[in-house]
Amino acid sequence: MKHAHIAEISSFDKSTLPNEDVVGVPWFPKKISDLDLCANKVLMYGSELDADHPGFKDNIYRKRRKYFADLAMNYKHGHPIPRVDYTAEEVRTWGIVFRELNKLYPSRACKEYLKNLPLLTKYCKYSEDNIPQLEDVCHFLKERSGFVIRPVAGYLSPRDFLAGLALRVFHCTQYVRHSSEPFYTPEPDTCHELLGHVPLLAEPSFAQFSQEIGLASLGASDEAIQKLATCYFFTVEFGLCKQDGRLKAYGAGLLSSSTELKHALSDKANVLPFDPMVTCKQECLITTFQDVYFVAESFEEAKNKMREFSKTLRLPFTVRYDPYTQSVDVLKDITNTKSTVIDIHHEPDNAEDKELHQKHLS
Ligand SMILES: [Fe+2]
Repeated sequence: MKHAHIAEISSFDKSTLPNEDVVGVPWFPKKISDLDLCANKVLMYGSELDADHPGFKDNIYRKRRKYFADLAMNYKHGHPIPRVDYTAEEVRTWGIVFRELNKLYPSRACKEYLKNLPLLTKYCKYSEDNIPQLEDVCHFLKERSGFVIRPVAGYLSPRDFLAGLALRVFHCTQYVRHSSEPFYTPEPDTCHELLGHVPLLAEPSFAQFSQEIGLASLGASDEAIQKLATCYFFTVEFGLCKQDGRLKAYGAGLLSSSTELKHALSDKANVLPFDPMVTCKQECLITTFQDVYFVAESFEEAKNKMREFSKTLRLPFTVRYDPYTQSVDVLKDITNTKSTVIDIHHEPDNAEDKELHQKHLS
């Protein structure tokens, strides 16, 4: 079962929009509302299922997927995310997944996950017999980590998906997997988003790590995007971490799949330390368990490693995230920076940033 969130192919993602900031660099969104220009470029529409999809022959399911695809395609930044009246069958499928996974979380999920899951029960009505609404989850995340949710109809290109992370936007599907196979889905569904991603996105250190991958992707070459998407895959989707001397899961693909969650933490799994230079070369497997899982010491450490890695991508400009305007500043004049490599900051953690923040506060 795979929930990579971003499609494996990258040929779709060449934007033809001009980039007024840096000539020769692929267009990228500079502010949160710019996502309206690229969030609908899905590679696979909700109602157009592959022949091996569990819902391929189910016309009622396909019609329902069209409904969800339309909701997402009509979404614009600033709109509330439409509330969905889930059917009894959809709630039953969610309940089966929810029950099974909740048996495994206490011994296998990382401590940040276990801390945040009860808060989601309290504030977003997570329960066995209720599918939480993305709008409620979006409000919750905004208060906890500054991340927001944007509904999406299907797979985005890696470039567009990662650009969302740079602006602290997580693209989420809203449909439910087919009821015939509650423990299998060939694509991300709302069970994967709500149980896999959301509890970690509520954690500020994880949110910063996720954003770091996104910032590194802005304006990057296709080759660099592929490397960053692979790092994303082996961390946000399939990452492990070490806590109190034991391996725990923080990747959403693991935390939403009972079989792979058990496998990744068994003695059958191969594990290596997370190192973007190594991780970016690992093959992402789509139809089987991963050959190897990467272990982060902490989200802070993983973020710093990504920051160092992004310098090797050598972009001719600096990107700086401004949380007050939810936008990125593109600094073309690199003569004032100490090096010519990309220099990414999103927290006021150095004198220059503090000055910038002061400017906004005054
Ligand atoms: Fe995912």
